[in-house]
Amino acid sequence: MAASKKHRLRDSALRRLLYVLCVTLCGALLLIFIFGSNSISRIEIIRNLDIGDDGSSAYHYDLKVRERVKLPKQNELSFRLEKLNRVPPRNSDLYPNLAKDRIVVVLYVHNRPQYLRVVVDSLSNVVGINETLLIVSHDGYFEDMNKIIDGIRFCQVKQIYAPYSPHVFSNSFPGVSPGDCKDKDDARGKRCKGNPDQYGNHRSPKIVSLKHHWWWMMNTVWDGLRETREHSGHILFIEEDHFIFPNAYQNLQILTSLKHKKCPDCYAANLAPSDVNSRGEEWASLIAERMGNVGYSFNRTVWRKIHNKAREFCFFDDYNWDITMWATVYPSFGRPVYTLRGPRTSAVHFGKCGLHQGQGENKACIDSGMMNIRVDDPDKVSNIESDWVVHVYKNQPGYKAGFKGWGGWGDDRDRRLCLSFATMYHSRGTTSPL
Ligand SMILES: *[C@@H]1O[C@H](CO)[C@@H](O)[C@H](O)[C@H]1NC(C)=O
Ligand SMILES: *[C@@H]1O[C@H](CO)[C@@H](O)[C@H](O)[C@H]1NC(C)=O
Repeated sequence: MAASKKHRLRDSALRRLLYVLCVTLCGALLLIFIFGSNSISRIEIIRNLDIGDDGSSAYHYDLKVRERVKLPKQNELSFRLEKLNRVPPRNSDLYPNLAKDRIVVVLYVHNRPQYLRVVVDSLSNVVGINETLLIVSHDGYFEDMNKIIDGIRFCQVKQIYAPYSPHVFSNSFPGVSPGDCKDKDDARGKRCKGNPDQYGNHRSPKIVSLKHHWWWMMNTVWDGLRETREHSGHILFIEEDHFIFPNAYQNLQILTSLKHKKCPDCYAANLAPSDVNSRGEEWASLIAERMGNVGYSFNRTVWRKIHNKAREFCFFDDYNWDITMWATVYPSFGRPVYTLRGPRTSAVHFGKCGLHQGQGENKACIDSGMMNIRVDDPDKVSNIESDWVVHVYKNQPGYKAGFKGWGGWGDDRDRRLCLSFATMYHSRGTTSPL
């Protein structure tokens, strides 16, 4: 009797256990079903977007890579821009043969058409531009900017668009997303999203966009684009407010050919002095000095060194790409980093209206900038002699190792996005070129 009661007790305990197990299992199955089908339908939606005939399978494939490197969820505009990045260069009918030893020119721009017009005009007078490829990298999508580039007939030209620009996302990261902290919000108290920078400020999408664009562009040009991922020579980088003199390309060819022999510590060649207010010394010598950010060019070896420092670049709390390079990346090379240039500038920075002020209210400032740009006869032909000695500027003032940054780059999401740009063309199986 006692035995059978015990038996019955054990039986009911077992039954209860089975019941609990069953409910748990069913719940788990239900969850898997819901989330599983959800992700399938997301892929289906992406597949059904109008992404053209260059292969939804390629996009499906990219999607897997995208998830592996944790890129943000794209919207339709972002997908379209990525598709545009695969369009081959224009004007290849006019210039069917690019020079073997060409220096590719990359012009990176945002939305100042009144500036861009000046730069494009100046490029049209550059001797030798017709033997190379011009790539225009846009931070966002702006019709006025496209129109100017579409008018170019003087060389092969290709436009690319940063598909993860904050300007492309109106309602989600990398743009502003609902629930984001602002200014000096207390994330825990306000239950908002974001990490403040070293000065207590939260991210501003407009401000972080420049560093994101620069880093996306570098990675894309060197490692992503079909047209340049195997380019073995130098690439020149200029901005939408850099006036380029007619002799810039020829001078750069001389500088890049002399660099190795004349200045082993030179990683780059520059069109302009690092002091943006200087037009050069006009000595009969070459100049080696700290890296400047007007018209700089380097080769793939140097890019690999920079790319190896992706963590330093992406985690440094400064929203300026150039200050980030000076304060963390170059010092981490372990050797002095110089650039070689001529004694007379071949490019001038003329922008006076800041990038973040928008346009419209600042239309006047271009005129005053333009007044000063005179192209004299020595600027029309190459003016560098290969038998000149190199004058080295040592210990120039400026940002260097130890500077802790101006902030603006404290949000984990920005840092991760930045790192994703550095890995997106390197993940296993990422063979489909842009
Ligand atoms: C490029 O322009 C120069 C004149 O600056 C001309 O002599 C040359 O033939 C042109 N080359 C090509 C490939 O169009
Ligand atoms: C690229 O430039 C660096 C620095 O001048 C030089 O050491 C290196 O040999 C160059 N690489 C190639 C492939 O020419």
